[in-house]
Amino acid sequence: MNVLLVGSGGREHALAWKLAQSPRLTTLYVAPGNAGTAISNQQSTIRNVTIPAEDTAALVAFAREQHIDLTIIGPEAPLAAGLADALRAAGVRVFGPSQAAAQIEASKAFAKAFMVRHHIPTARYAVFTDFYQAIGHLLAVTYPVVIKASGLAAGKGVIVPDCADEAEAALRQIMLEREFGAAGDEVVIEERLEGEEVSVLAFTDGVTVRVMPPAQDHKRLLDGDRGPNTGGMGAYAPAPIATPSLLEEVTRTILQPAVDGLRNEGRPFVGVLYAGLMLTKDGPRTLEFNCRFGDPEAQVILPLLESDLLEIALACVEGKLATQEILWKRGAAACVVLASEGYPGNYPKGRPISGLGQPLEDAYIFHAGTARSGETIVTAGGRVLGVTGWGTDLRAALHNAYNAVETISFEGMQYRKDIGWRASPTRTLT
Ligand code: AMP
Ligand code: GLY
Repeated sequence: MNVLLVGSGGREHALAWKLAQSPRLTTLYVAPGNAGTAISNQQSTIRNVTIPAEDTAALVAFAREQHIDLTIIGPEAPLAAGLADALRAAGVRVFGPSQAAAQIEASKAFAKAFMVRHHIPTARYAVFTDFYQAIGHLLAVTYPVVIKASGLAAGKGVIVPDCADEAEAALRQIMLEREFGAAGDEVVIEERLEGEEVSVLAFTDGVTVRVMPPAQDHKRLLDGDRGPNTGGMGAYAPAPIATPSLLEEVTRTILQPAVDGLRNEGRPFVGVLYAGLMLTKDGPRTLEFNCRFGDPEAQVILPLLESDLLEIALACVEGKLATQEILWKRGAAACVVLASEGYPGNYPKGRPISGLGQPLEDAYIFHAGTARSGETIVTAGGRVLGVTGWGTDLRAALHNAYNAVETISFEGMQYRKDIGWRASPTRTLT
């Protein structure tokens, strides 16, 4: 079976690594991929194709010419732009939601109204397009707020202000200075919730929902959850705070109603639905939905998947998820992101990375922002590598991940030393 995977981050390298284990795979094309998916060429089943994820017409043409049997779309931007629709219209099967279903991530204003329509627990909110009305709302509410650009802003469009002045500054930044461009045309002001966060992802064929092991991301740059927000500096799974009974509740009150609601509104969702949750003292509340695998959550969830990912993706596309076997490994996985100097601000590119060639047991180095420069692999993005370790428990997984990190270096490399601390606060690094 020929598969086309769209995207170029750590998530896509993890997807490629897992898909390459499928006996049903003939060739996996990654568009455009990174230096990690190119190295896997040695297995001769994976090939990078130099088509950017935004080039819908070229991707559709490629899929037709190469007789692609299934396309898997990794990132949100091409999903929100309608790549899945264009491929389906050309007769190509796609694991990933339509543009209409991807609205659940691409418009926070849509997602909030949708949640209210379908009684999915979430924070109180209001939506504004006018700056002065938004300021008026800030003065009127009696609770602390969070301010969100409604559209896609690469994970940066949410501001959690500490005081009224900061809230006003956030509105100015989004609505007047237009820091996130059109993503800030609408602004959601919502109640700030307290609790621990967890990500629950599920496979869905538009009807059936099958949850994956719960994961925790580490969005802040620095140890102890300090510093600026990033795309994610590490993750681990399963997160023990999300007990089996909590997962059952999240499936029943959040994920299944979302999948049913989307289908009933004429926008069936096929792919991975990701619920970002706050576990409040009153129960789980939905902070956001994403229409795809998380990055770096994919780098810890996929190594725990025992079953064949290609089989599961096909079952979703064919509406047969209810009867598909999905087995998970025991144990845990942890991912440490190695980032460029200056990230999440401006960062240099082209710095040589050493230590990538060493074979590792119980660990894998997923590439994110890397490129090939002659014989050398160099940095090419903010998040450069996602080093994942696994083992019988989280402690072993972290040990294996950090051991592997020690073999790698590049100038200005920065990473968090406390991944998984919420689940193992007494952990000491070796
Ligand atoms: P989102 O992209 O909507 O998940 O927001 C990004 C981050 O902002 C979340 O992971 C939370 O840390 C924080 N956040 C979002 N909404 C809220 C909220 N209502 N209360 C508290 N924190 C929030
Ligand atoms: N790690 C958060 C996300 O993928 O949205």
